[in-house]
Amino acid sequence: MARYYQTTPIFYVNDRPHLGTAYTVVSADALARWHRVVGDEVLFLTGTDEHGLKIQRAAEERGVDPRTWADETSAHFKTAWAALDISYDDFIRTTEGRHRAAVQRFIRAIHDNGHIYKGTYSGWYCVACEAYYGEAELAPGRTCPVHGRDVEWLVEENYFFALSKFQDALLEWYATRPDAVRPETRRNEALSFIRQGLEDISISRTSIGWGIPVPWDESHVVYVWYDALINYCTAAGYGIDDAAFVRWWPAVHHLVGKDILRFHAVWWPAMCLAAGVEPPAEVLVHGFLLVGGEKMSKSRANQIDPVALAADVGSDALRYHLLREVSLGADGEFSYEGLVARYNADLANNLGNLLARVATVVGSKCGGIGPAPRPADASPLAPQALACVADAEAAWARSAPHDALEATWRLIRDANAELEAEEPWKLPPGAQVEGVLGDALEVLRLVAVLASPALPRAAAAIWSRLGLSGGPGDPGRAAGGLGWGGYPGGLRVEKGEVLFPRRHDGAPGDRP
Ligand code: ME8
Ligand code: MG
Repeated sequence: MARYYQTTPIFYVNDRPHLGTAYTVVSADALARWHRVVGDEVLFLTGTDEHGLKIQRAAEERGVDPRTWADETSAHFKTAWAALDISYDDFIRTTEGRHRAAVQRFIRAIHDNGHIYKGTYSGWYCVACEAYYGEAELAPGRTCPVHGRDVEWLVEENYFFALSKFQDALLEWYATRPDAVRPETRRNEALSFIRQGLEDISISRTSIGWGIPVPWDESHVVYVWYDALINYCTAAGYGIDDAAFVRWWPAVHHLVGKDILRFHAVWWPAMCLAAGVEPPAEVLVHGFLLVGGEKMSKSRANQIDPVALAADVGSDALRYHLLREVSLGADGEFSYEGLVARYNADLANNLGNLLARVATVVGSKCGGIGPAPRPADASPLAPQALACVADAEAAWARSAPHDALEATWRLIRDANAELEAEEPWKLPPGAQVEGVLGDALEVLRLVAVLASPALPRAAAAIWSRLGLSGGPGDPGRAAGGLGWGGYPGGLRVEKGEVLFPRRHDGAPGDRP
């Protein structure tokens, strides 16, 4: 048994969640759920990133104060994650008192260790944007690329983090931690960025007020990224609950999109080293969800509302599609047609059919009482089942939900093929029918456990229809590995409603 602390990025509250953010959170949720199933002690954290200019401005545009805006928008994230059955243990908001305290402690530690100094930051400043631009980013005639207005040369006093001093320490740390950033291509990207040489970073602002005050100089607020990264420590109890902190840290697994690789793979481990905290065990980097080849994002008008989509197809189907369609690490194209096609093929036909057939024939040939499976050496399905289970377990263990689900659905197809070959519905009641159905029930039991991180509702429904007690995703359900023969037999099998009714709306234009 291990400890496993899973995080997601904390999302900006400048706008509501979209399917791209949902993709991250569903992936993290599936990983957290799998770790619970194998008996790990899990802490699963998500939350919202609420300080900084971007949020201040989003609030100003609506004529509300940033706090009101952040409260409202953060609540939308909670609603969305409830609709997607996200099993987070903690939801952090950077405007909470516990986070303010942790940030102030963390940066004071870095300051005390001599890695923060006061300096001047200068650059081309657009007042409308309240942002600095590099020479190369300016529009022709030295104007703001957003507003087209003249920019001013501004000089601001800031605190700086001496990131440049950490180049060697970071390289040394990475040398001993081959799995600290995955996949390998992202690790190499981080390493080559570090090798190019690092510049110190400005970590405070005097121009805005919406942030956490620098503890030794309250005329400054902490720059939003420096504030945000520390959330992972806050939620583990940094500086407040030392017993909790050593329990969860550094067994922390960050899941982030590739857009924020540098912050997590360069800044964050350097900040940890500077504060005297061990850097995180793992940064797992995923790709983008694309629509029509473009990244889905708040700034493009291509967002899909995950809540509406879950209401339409069901949260299980949406989760399954996201996890199965996109190989974690790569970009993946989302389309409603693709979702419906996969739903019909994998959920309505393969999984739904297996359950319905087995339950029907148990009803007609076995008086509704599920028989036990045959021993592994007497069951034609057992060798395939054990191979698929081993593949799925290994895939979950390496954080590859797409592979885990692929292996699980191979087993479902094998079981359907076995039923088609044996045609138990045509046989007279007796030992042969019981053996075939017992094996199929055992496959359904295994499938329910393996698929539970992706489809928690359907897996629980299968489990209870098989007459089993507890749930397939219960903590420790697969501890020590899943073996053949766990279905005891003698349980009442319930046919129930069709689990995934076939859909007929895959045509373009049917988007919710
Ligand atoms: O960057 N495909 O917040 P953010 C896949 N607050 N993932 C996507 C996506 C897409 N099309 N669009 C967004 C921030 N994401 C900071 C993070 S962490 C200390 C602070 C996901 O609201 C992806 O995981 O811009 C990405 O990294 C994250 O949303 C960025 O969310
Ligand atoms: Mg973003």
